[in-house]
Amino acid sequence: MGFAEFMERALYDPVLGFYESGRAGRRGGHFITSPEVGPLFGAVLGRMLDRRWQELGQPDSFTVVDAGAGPGTLARTVAKAQPCCMPALRWINVERSAAGRAGHTVGESAAAMPAGPFAGVIVANELLDNLPLSLFDVDGTEVGDRRPSPETRLTPRQSQACEWLAQARSILDHGTVVVIDYMSTTEEMAARAWPEWLRTYRGHERGDDPWTAPGTQDITCEVALDQLSGVSPPTRIADQAVWLRTHGIDELVAEGIAAWQAGAAHGDLAALAGRSRGIEAEALLDPSGLGKFTVAEWDVPDPQ
Ligand SMILES: C[S@@+](CC[C@H](N)C(=O)[O-])C[C@H]1O[C@@H](n2cnc3c(N)ncnc32)[C@H](O)[C@@H]1O
Repeated sequence: MGFAEFMERALYDPVLGFYESGRAGRRGGHFITSPEVGPLFGAVLGRMLDRRWQELGQPDSFTVVDAGAGPGTLARTVAKAQPCCMPALRWINVERSAAGRAGHTVGESAAAMPAGPFAGVIVANELLDNLPLSLFDVDGTEVGDRRPSPETRLTPRQSQACEWLAQARSILDHGTVVVIDYMSTTEEMAARAWPEWLRTYRGHERGDDPWTAPGTQDITCEVALDQLSGVSPPTRIADQAVWLRTHGIDELVAEGIAAWQAGAAHGDLAALAGRSRGIEAEALLDPSGLGKFTVAEWDVPDPQ
């Protein structure tokens, strides 16, 4: 069995797979995902969606797909932020695991990507790092069943991530695909000792080597931006911290602090939520954590 098939079973086997068995929960500790940090990430995304909706001429129907939606937290936080595009918004949570789909309470819920074409935005936060990949020695031999020894130099071939990107672009009549993940390049990964760029997590801790106790730990790989660029070069690339600032995180934090100062004496919930924006922003912008994730965007132009 090649590594891709192994990873497929370890993560997505209908009974024992990490994401199906209910063990996944949230990525914990330092490795919590941006939407799970709190409502601020969804509020920033809401502003980005408004900008794109306006650029597209405020269409009556504006579809947003959250690909690899997990329990649908992003949908809830965007809805809570009430972006201007809300009346036009058709939100589709796409999640292959039934355990994840059970959490979808806002928007539609689907196990696979919708058929296109539609105008809108497709977002994938920490999806591509979880898609099965093949492993090769630097001389091009597939690793297959062999367990490589530490210090070996390997490279990933992320065919499923590339296929996902090609599909996402093809179902957009026009709009944007937004991929957010920890990214590097095939060359950078080949230069680093295995398995530094292919990580496992169990609970809140780094896990064991990927072959240990399959189904009990997450397996994730840095996303090779050069391989995605081979499908189509991104229109824009930024660190998550820069991208969040472009879409107004600082204004949202300032508003929150002002609300906190105005309401602090009463200790009301809005004031508390305002104060927590500062703490959330710190995690989302952290230059050694979520802030250094890469946001790669592909615009698909209007065919007319
Ligand atoms: C690390 S979680 C990220 C969840 C969410 N996007 C977040 O940021 O909190 C990755 C999710 O992608 C889902 N997934 C993996 N492959 C998928 C696919 N081909 N289609 C849809 N969902 C997929 C997994 O089941 C898992 O719930």
